[in-house]
Amino acid sequence: MRTQVGIVGAGPAGLFLSHLLARQGVDSIVLEAQSRAYVEGRVRAGVLEAGTIDTMNNIGLGARMRAEGMVDDSLNIRFRGKEIRLDLPGLTGRHVMIYGQQEVVKDLIAARLAEGLPLLFEATVEGIEDIQGPRPRLRFRKDGVEQVLECDFVAGCDGFHGVCRQAPPEGVIRSFVKTYDFAWLGVLARAAPIADMTYASHDRGFALCSRRSPKVSRLYLQVPGSDAPENWTDRQFWDELHARMFDTQAQEIQEGEIFQRDVARLRAYIADPMQYGRLFLAGDACHIVPPAGAKGLNMAVGDVRTLARGLVAFYREGSRAGLDRYSADCIDRVWKTIRYSVALTGLLHRFDEQTPFERGMQMAELEFLHGSPAAQRVIAEQYVRLSDVSD
Ligand code: APR
Ligand code: PHB
Repeated sequence: MRTQVGIVGAGPAGLFLSHLLARQGVDSIVLEAQSRAYVEGRVRAGVLEAGTIDTMNNIGLGARMRAEGMVDDSLNIRFRGKEIRLDLPGLTGRHVMIYGQQEVVKDLIAARLAEGLPLLFEATVEGIEDIQGPRPRLRFRKDGVEQVLECDFVAGCDGFHGVCRQAPPEGVIRSFVKTYDFAWLGVLARAAPIADMTYASHDRGFALCSRRSPKVSRLYLQVPGSDAPENWTDRQFWDELHARMFDTQAQEIQEGEIFQRDVARLRAYIADPMQYGRLFLAGDACHIVPPAGAKGLNMAVGDVRTLARGLVAFYREGSRAGLDRYSADCIDRVWKTIRYSVALTGLLHRFDEQTPFERGMQMAELEFLHGSPAAQRVIAEQYVRLSDVSD
């Protein structure tokens, strides 16, 4: 088997890259360890920044997003019973779109298969050979049979637990890590969502009300890192959500059947550089954001747009310049995006070790944000377009 770009992983990073390359005449084969149903069923965030919306449209796959996605014009933050309303178009001229990541993934998979282009599920990459040479090889196992894919370049889009980041010799890629001792319990509920995306900083902990459709709410609570979804009864979940959202009469937030739940530990992680020889890392394979701000998918899209530009220039003009600069072109945006998410996390969550002084600082910052359109603009600006890159 042979192709120009061997793509490991069919999450958002690998799938977007395959489409960006196909539109510009570059061949790729996507190898994904899991089944199609598994990949399409994975519930993740659902906020598309302006640049991600544009990318969906530019690759010609925005129709369902435009029909079913929900334009979001505001981001609200509650504290002490007050509400800060960030009017996104007023502050930035742009909006974001609510459209579940798994819907994006479904659209990209369906289009790839409909175009008859190679995307192999249950194909697990077990080894990467010769990444320094002109013809790297991916050894992968499908249906119990070991096979080899020879390519010009490897795109490591295989997520945080993938194999690609481990392929370069020890010490080549540096890791920068911040761990948190709390997690987000996320649920999907058949209940009409509240009107706006709303974060809350409460003495009991952080909460977030988002949505997936006019009938489905996506809701989160900060919980201890050791917590498990089954530790929470539905009643406990709703009571805690009402309390943290300052919905004291339990009249604002509608309850309904909780049909999915998960707990995700928060962490921030950066791998630098994002390339070695003919291997290029993108998305969760080389950075993880804490979820406040919903940057994970958007950051992955920024990476693969940059990578696609470098690969297309290589095949069209024979220039390696864009590829050689790939990591340098991405890394400032990556640090800035992680900084934003870490700052939002720090502003909105309760920390075990937090002193009353530090809680006072958080409240003072929220009060300042409440009264300052300039400060609101700083938050809104980064929410709508921090991950954007120029093409
Ligand atoms: N061989 C083939 N595929 C693999 C291997 C392997 N050895 N290891 C992992 N994979 C696949 C995983 O099964 C997964 O489907 O790589 C894919 C990586 O996808 P994601 O984890 O979704 O990562 P990415 O595409 O970078 O997406 C970034 O999406 O995953 C969210 O939180 C993440 O929002 C962020 C964004
Ligand atoms: C979501 O809708 O899942 C979501 C929204 C905002 C976030 C994180 C997740 O910050």
